[in-house]
Amino acid sequence: MEPADTRDTPLALLDRWLDEADRAAVPEPRSVAFVTVGEGGGPSARTVSLKRLEGETLVFTSALWTRKASEIESNPRVALLFYWPTVGRQVHITGRAEVADRELALELFSERELSHRLQTLVSRQGEPIQDIEPLRARHAHLMSVLEAPPECPPDWGAILVTPDAIEFWTRAPDRIHDRLLYQRVHGGWGVTRLAP
Ligand SMILES: Cc1cc2nc3c(=O)[nH]c(=O)nc-3n(C[C@H](O)[C@H](O)[C@H](O)COP(=O)(O)O)c2cc1C
Repeated sequence: MEPADTRDTPLALLDRWLDEADRAAVPEPRSVAFVTVGEGGGPSARTVSLKRLEGETLVFTSALWTRKASEIESNPRVALLFYWPTVGRQVHITGRAEVADRELALELFSERELSHRLQTLVSRQGEPIQDIEPLRARHAHLMSVLEAPPECPPDWGAILVTPDAIEFWTRAPDRIHDRLLYQRVHGGWGVTRLAP
């Protein structure tokens, strides 16, 4: 990383790295591991898709009856991990998650492809089921008969993550990889270079 990188805010640097991952044709660069902590202190992880960077937050969408949503309600501390092998970069974020207001949920729901919106309606994500075929049949049926766009379910929404630390890792051929850790200090950001 160049000295100029440290003049960016970490969110601006993340935005730039996402653009560069797009240009390098990294597969699904907005897919990110999202780690939450359950009430008993046990961690859980799943992949989610970054929808936007907005101000100082990362924006995701999720059904709000799910494990991740209930875990952030009881403990908002979360971690996120991007890894882009094609460009040898990793970004590790820790921060706090919250459910966004309904307005943003409606906006993001309306931007989803029709088949994704219908998937949200027909499948109660995370609930045990006997058989997947009825869900497929219902999804296919709605795809063929639906005349008006489906409404956003009341318990589907957007999750905002406000980072308190972001570490940028860059692979080096000699294995002396470069690590820049941004941490929030006094309303701004401090930067520390870490040994690989
Ligand atoms: C590439 C990829 C992207 C995904 N994106 C999302 C997403 O944006 N939101 C979401 O709720 N689930 C997404 N999922 C599904 C989650 O990984 C997970 O299975 C689901 O959200 C249930 O997680 P939970 O029960 O821990 O809450 C994605 C899965 C993959 C493999």
